[in-house]
Amino acid sequence: MKTAKLVYGGEEYDLPVFTGSENESAIDISKLREQTGAVAYDPGYGNVGSCRSAITFIDGDKGILRYRGYPIEQLARKACFSEVCHLLIHNHLPDEEEFGLWRRELTLNSFIHEDMLKFFEGFPTKSHPMAILAAMIASLSAYHPEEERGQTIEKNIIRLLAKVKTFAAFSYKKSVGEPFVYPLTRYSYAQNFLRMMFATPAEEYEPPKVLADALNMLLIIHADHEQNCSTSTVRMVGSSRANLFASVSAGVSALWGSLHGGANQAVIEMLERIIDDGGDCKAFVAKVKEKKSRARLMGFGHRVYKNYDPRARLLKKANDDVHRKLGIKDPLLDVALELEEIALNDEYFIERNLYPNVDFYSGILYRAMGIPTDMFTVMFAMGRMPGWIAHWKEQRDTPNSRIHRPRQIYTGTTERKFIPISKRPKSKKG
Ligand code: CMC
Repeated sequence: MKTAKLVYGGEEYDLPVFTGSENESAIDISKLREQTGAVAYDPGYGNVGSCRSAITFIDGDKGILRYRGYPIEQLARKACFSEVCHLLIHNHLPDEEEFGLWRRELTLNSFIHEDMLKFFEGFPTKSHPMAILAAMIASLSAYHPEEERGQTIEKNIIRLLAKVKTFAAFSYKKSVGEPFVYPLTRYSYAQNFLRMMFATPAEEYEPPKVLADALNMLLIIHADHEQNCSTSTVRMVGSSRANLFASVSAGVSALWGSLHGGANQAVIEMLERIIDDGGDCKAFVAKVKEKKSRARLMGFGHRVYKNYDPRARLLKKANDDVHRKLGIKDPLLDVALELEEIALNDEYFIERNLYPNVDFYSGILYRAMGIPTDMFTVMFAMGRMPGWIAHWKEQRDTPNSRIHRPRQIYTGTTERKFIPISKRPKSKKG
């Protein structure tokens, strides 16, 4: 067995080394504290493998992303989102019969308990749809409280995948004051979602193929991305044996932040600001480089990719196709292309390996579909659902998996004595 040697406190320790199926090496420090009394320190977890996982492989230096071994480019161009959900969760692409049943279940379970409709009435009209989504998903535990094992887990998985699009579409319908629209079994996941968003009782609505294809690809591209902030959150919460709905609801909240899934909304807001300020992309990039401005080029950079994010490449091309086919001219796309050109030729971005990530072009594509900006992160959450579920399930199925409980290095005050309030000196802060 390969080992790594650690010399610490005058002692030598042999730490086991193992490799993953793509030859990624790991030094096993799971006994480090027990053996040496010290813990490993890695804020932001950039160097820590928190689990062994067989779901998604990323090589950030080469720009490779594969789900269960299948390259993202092949899945994004040839598969449908429901198939990819099955692949991620059940580790194989379904055959025709399995797929028929799976798709039917996904439509039949899209309906939500009529009582839950009252929740939509209770939210203020201006609520952010991510707040509604997290609350609705957590509430599913109240409607399906059965203990999770065997078939109940499978049933809850289907419920969650199916109902998330209903929550998303209904939160939009509520915001525009239109009646809710339910899905039909003859449509795919993406077609149904478009119909639930944009159909009205006034006329027939057939989801346009160009939009359904683009949405299908967007959902697949977002479906999993190994141990990112929200997925690690789902695993962290799930490690306490919290139920599927509670764990995934926590993931939705983690995704919301602007450094993670919220970046797709932040990119559009940034592009709009640049246009409002006169459209000077060079001046904006110069401002980003001044650290004291604290501005970032949103949609650029990634913890794992030190090369072009393969998802951004697919989305850039999809934007081109959709805008051309629909004859749309979006000034935001022109600004994004110019920013990319400037950044990719600028020393600051080159030195730091900063490239467009998935969020740089996704928002522009959602805009072309007519999806409002504050729904963008909800779209990301819908796509990421099978990934969160697959990770929650993988962890649950891992024998002897332990509750996640990192250590810390305490830097606060050392022991001091309590002084009763009458004898306490006056506080300097006043
Ligand atoms: N604009 C300007 N400078 C940047 C950017 C950016 N977008 N991203 C990183 N940097 C700089 C950063 O200031 C630092 O510079 P220095 O070494 O001089 O201090 C260096 O690059 C390394 O950055 P970091 O913050 O240590 O990198 P990280 O791995 O902790 O953060 C990130 C990754 C994605 C949070 C970050 O690149 C970022 O804030 N990007 C903008 C937000 C964004 O687009 N997020 C979506 C990520 S992809 C979708 C998802 O998975 O959620």
